[in-house]
Amino acid sequence: MSARLRVAVLAGGRSSEHDISLASARSVVEALDPARYETKTIEIGRDGVWALSPTPGPAGLPAAAHESLPIPTSAAPRALGGVDIVLPILHGPFGEDGTVQGLLELADIPYVGAGVTASALCMDKDLFKAVLRDRGIPVAASVTLRTGDAVENPFGYPVFVKPARLGSSVGISKARTATELDEAVELARRHDDKVLVEEFQPGVEVEVGVLGNREPVASVVGEIVAHADWYDFEAKYAEGGMDLIVPARLPDETTAEVRRLAVEAFIATDCEGMARVDFFVRPDGQVIVNELNTIPGFTATSVYARLFAESGISYPALLDRLVEFALERYEQRRALAY
Ligand SMILES: Nc1ncnc2c1ncn2[C@@H]1O[C@H](COP(=O)(O)OP(=O)(O)O)[C@@H](O)[C@H]1O
Ligand SMILES: [Mg+2]
Repeated sequence: MSARLRVAVLAGGRSSEHDISLASARSVVEALDPARYETKTIEIGRDGVWALSPTPGPAGLPAAAHESLPIPTSAAPRALGGVDIVLPILHGPFGEDGTVQGLLELADIPYVGAGVTASALCMDKDLFKAVLRDRGIPVAASVTLRTGDAVENPFGYPVFVKPARLGSSVGISKARTATELDEAVELARRHDDKVLVEEFQPGVEVEVGVLGNREPVASVVGEIVAHADWYDFEAKYAEGGMDLIVPARLPDETTAEVRRLAVEAFIATDCEGMARVDFFVRPDGQVIVNELNTIPGFTATSVYARLFAESGISYPALLDRLVEFALERYEQRRALAY
């Protein structure tokens, strides 16, 4: 019998998306085939402290939480020494933004998903859009406010205000008046010293999964129906907060355009492994890239997994492929001379 691949799933983390990451990681651990993988979970606390989750008790019963083993952050790379591959299932800052990926590069361990540059780039809505604009990929017009900049809005109302580097709609507002705009900027500035004021995009929101390294493929297109004025935190995570309609109710040529732009955005930003690319389709059919998530919500019922399930790739198969892409990337990089 060949040895099982030793997998560490990184979960939790310092961002406001801590709990969402824990849910994603639980799904991943459940779906990794125990015949192929020997899996352990490393839980990163909100305080940044790493802890080795206790191995589940007999018959899958969870062991008591107090048995978890704290790992000093400085010793984190060594704690990872005994694994063959890491699955960083972390969302937002200190996880999805290239920081953990940098740690894993230094520790010389293969890991799933985007590398350092792509992770940092896609986390930053301001820089991400600059790169896409450079490639001629349509994105929403926006102005960037840095510390000390006066509030500015050349777009009229409503307008969207967001922290440059966050996720799950945290710190985002739709401002309908100048007063609301000031409040929205103040809120966003609590989360980031860089804030975007973005032109409102009417129409529908659609999302596409992308999978692969040098020859990425796009999933079917899913349409988000948020049961709210916009796709806020509540709509994203509350039971019944949204419906995903697959395939999206779009003309064939629009669907093709969305899928083409998803792959183009993935390539333009140097992504690897996986990403979920989110779009606005305006009433006139114009397709605008909103953002690209390098570590999308990853439970078995998350949009990413559902889109690939509809595309014929099951959740466990998706994980197998991501592991293969990670190992392939690692081997290719190892052959390079620096
Ligand atoms: N320019 C915009 N026009 C219309 N709706 C927007 C705009 N920007 C964001 N939104 C709404 O806010 C949600 C969250 O914004 P997004 O940029 O995707 O941030 P996050 O990274 O937190 O998901 C979107 O899914 C959409 O519903
Ligand atoms: Mg989003």
